[in-house]
Amino acid sequence: MKILHISAECYPIAKVGGLADVVGSLPKYQNNQNVTSEVIMPYYNNKFTNQNEFKSIYEGKVNLDVNEYEFRILTPTSIDLGYNLFLVDIPELLFKDYVYSNDDTERFFAFQLAVLNWVTIWENKPTTLHCHDHHTGLIPFLISESYVYSDLKDIPTVFTIHNAQYQGWFSHDKVNMFPEFNFDHVGLLDWGGSINPLAAAIKCAWKVNTVSPSYMEELKFEANGLEHLLSAESEKCVGILNGIDTDVWNPETDSYLIKNYKTSTVQSGSKENKKWLCNEFNLDEKKPLFAFIGRLVGEKGSDLFPEVFRAVLEKNECNILLLGSGNNEVENALNELKGDFEGTYNAFIGYDERLSHIIYAGADFLLMPSRVEPCGLNQMYSLRYGTIPVVRSIGGLKDTVIDISKENGFGICHNEVNKEEIVTAIDRAVELYKNQTAYKKHRKNIMSIDHSWGASAKEYINLYQNLKTENYAE
Ligand code: ADP
Ligand code: GLC
Repeated sequence: MKILHISAECYPIAKVGGLADVVGSLPKYQNNQNVTSEVIMPYYNNKFTNQNEFKSIYEGKVNLDVNEYEFRILTPTSIDLGYNLFLVDIPELLFKDYVYSNDDTERFFAFQLAVLNWVTIWENKPTTLHCHDHHTGLIPFLISESYVYSDLKDIPTVFTIHNAQYQGWFSHDKVNMFPEFNFDHVGLLDWGGSINPLAAAIKCAWKVNTVSPSYMEELKFEANGLEHLLSAESEKCVGILNGIDTDVWNPETDSYLIKNYKTSTVQSGSKENKKWLCNEFNLDEKKPLFAFIGRLVGEKGSDLFPEVFRAVLEKNECNILLLGSGNNEVENALNELKGDFEGTYNAFIGYDERLSHIIYAGADFLLMPSRVEPCGLNQMYSLRYGTIPVVRSIGGLKDTVIDISKENGFGICHNEVNKEEIVTAIDRAVELYKNQTAYKKHRKNIMSIDHSWGASAKEYINLYQNLKTENYAE
C-alpha cells in the first residue's frame, strides 16, 4: 500500500497551524506500520527550503486557462524526515515567503494540476491519494471527471476536513481553468452558486473524514453552509482523532526547553521553564500562569480575550501570557492591556515555535475557549507537558478533555463561549491550583495519557484497506 498525502502545509517544511503538524507526523507513523506513506506539497521560499538541498526528478507544464506555467518536482537530498517528501516548484506562483495569500485559487489550482500530471507519469504510483483541506479539494473531482486524468480514475481518494470554515470558494467565471471534463457534471463543483472545492471534495472523494469524531457530528448542524451536504454524504464520512508526534513533543528531550523533565520531575522541570517565562515577560512566578497559543480569530474565541483577561486580572490571583497573531483589533486591544496589568500579563504578538514549546512546558494552565475546534493539538501538547487544559467542550476538545468534576477527569471544561463561563472556568482553575496536592496529582496523570499517532494511524490504514475491498466488491 502506498499513500500520497497532498497538502499545503507540512511541519517542519512550512507551518501555519495544526494542519502542518498532522501532515508532518501521520506519514511517519504510517511508515512504521508497513505502509509506504509520502508527502507532496508546494515548494515555498522559506528557511527550510533555503537550508536544504534538493534535486529535480521531473519537469512539466500546467495550464490555467490561457496561462502556462512550468513546474518541477523536487525531492530533498540531505534530510531524513521519516517519509519521502516531494515539492512542487512553480516559481511564479508558489515560491513565495508565505503559504497563503489572496491569489490562492490560481496558486493551489496549479499545484493540484502539477501533482496529478506527475502522478500520471509516475511509474510507482500511489495506491491512495490522501488530500488535506480545500487547497487540495479539487483533486477527487479532477480524477473522477476530467478526461485528462482518466488514467487515474481507479486510484481511491481520501479527503480530510481539518477545518470546514475555509472552503476555497471561487466564481464560475473561472471554470475555464479546469482541464476538459464532462460538463454535464459541473454541478459537482458547485455549492450555493460558487465553485466550492471543499464541497466538491465531499461529493467526489471516496471517503471523507474529519479530525475528531465529535466534529463530524457537529458539522451536520453547523458547517458554514455545508450541513445538508454532510448529512447527505454521511455514509462515507467518519471522524478520526488526530494524534501528536511524540518525538517532537517530548518534554524529556525537547531541545527548545530551558529544562527537560519527565513525569517524576514535572514540578521542578516545569518550574524552571516558568521561571524563564516570568523573567522574560515580567510575570509573577508565585501566581498560577495561564497561557494561550494560537491564531487570534473568532473560532478560537479570541475576540473575547480583552474583556475576559481584564476581568480575571483585576482579581490579581494569576498571570496570563499570550502567544499569537491574527485579527488586528484584537492584537491592538491585547497590546493595550499590557499597561494596565504590568507584572501579571503579557502578550507576544507573532509566531514563535520555540517560545510555544517553552510555554507548553512552563505554564500551569492552557486556555482554549474555542467556538469551533475540529481537533485542536494544543491541548494534547499541553497534556504531554503536564499543563492542565481549560477548554470549551467542543469538537476535538470534547473528545480529549474530561472535566475534573467527573470520574477520571483531569481538565477544566465549560460549555458556552461567553465572558462569564470563561471567567468561571479560570476561577475554578485558580481554586485547583490552591489545592497543590490535587493539582500535582492531575499534572502527573495527564502526562501519561497517550495521544501519539499509533491508534489513529492504524484507523487511517484500515480506512484505506476498506476502500480497496469496496472497490473490488463492485
Ligand atoms: P489550528 O490549526 O486551528 O491553528 P491546532 O491546535 O490544531 O490549531 O494547531 C495549532 C498549532 O500551531 C500548534 O502546533 C500550535 O503550537 C501552533 N501555533 C499556533 N499559533 C502559534 C504561534 N503564534 N507561535 C507558535 N506556534 C503557534
Ligand atoms: C485545523 C483545525 C484544528 C486541527 C488542525 C489539524 O487547523 O482548526 O482544530 O487540530 O486543523 O487537524
